[in-house]
Amino acid sequence: RDNSKLTDDLVKYKDYVFAKDLVNAEHIDSLQSFEIRDSDIFLVTYPKSGTIWAQQIITSICESEMGDIYPNNLEMMPWLEYIDKRPDYSLRPNPRLFASHLTPVLMPPGLRDKKMIYVMRNPKDNVTSYYHWCVNWAMFETPKIGASSWFDHIREWHSKRDQYNILFLTYEDMIMDLKTAVTKICRFLDRDLTEADINKIVEKATFKNMKNDRKANYEFIPEDILKKGQFLRKGKIGEWKNMFTVAQSERFDQVFEERMKDIRTLKFIWDV
Ligand code: A3P
Repeated sequence: RDNSKLTDDLVKYKDYVFAKDLVNAEHIDSLQSFEIRDSDIFLVTYPKSGTIWAQQIITSICESEMGDIYPNNLEMMPWLEYIDKRPDYSLRPNPRLFASHLTPVLMPPGLRDKKMIYVMRNPKDNVTSYYHWCVNWAMFETPKIGASSWFDHIREWHSKRDQYNILFLTYEDMIMDLKTAVTKICRFLDRDLTEADINKIVEKATFKNMKNDRKANYEFIPEDILKKGQFLRKGKIGEWKNMFTVAQSERFDQVFEERMKDIRTLKFIWDV
């Protein structure tokens, strides 16, 4: 049901579940007339699949064009849907960068012919990361992010691949060969960086360096809301093995097989 109230903190609107204090239906509806510029760059992900990692790469690629005017990556590349402290984006200089967890139906229609990067992660690690995220909200309150189901999110965006200009990347590609992933993103964004620049971006985007990077590690979120270190927790492929039982993993494989059987072109790496 549209607009159904799930808990005191979460609300379902269209095909998405929102944290009430971060997103509202009125703002989401207003995105239908959000004017996108040719130079805008969008990053779309399901939560916990490597958003802030790709955000570090894209903001680093565009840093020299944007100048040193934003205090951190969140302000350099804000979430389109969040209403908290939202500035007037029409006043922002180009290039404007936006992150989002939204589904296609909720996104501005003008996105169709603009550049968008979609990062996805094997769902066993994705849910493991999401689980830890949820239990680390202070006092185990309802976590302040929502989403649609992982399967629907992947399916919806993948099915739109011919209608949008999307670069699909996986978290696992980035883990296995970060330099190739950075190079692909540069090419897609028509940014002609030198090899030395690319190497610098790769260095800035390693797990260790991001953890110590105050612009990238989100440790400005007060500790009474989220424990430190939750955005950069483990950063690995295969952590799900420490959480799933064998029976749960087998059950998950069955559900995955069933839900993804018509999109077999999408391959995930589950372990290294
Ligand atoms: P884990 O919880 O498995 O460690 P999001 O940004 O979408 O919320 O995703 C967070 C996940 O991406 C976390 O996964 C985090 O550790 C991982 N991540 C962020 N930056 C990373 C990096 N530089 N290298 C590897 N993983 C990274």
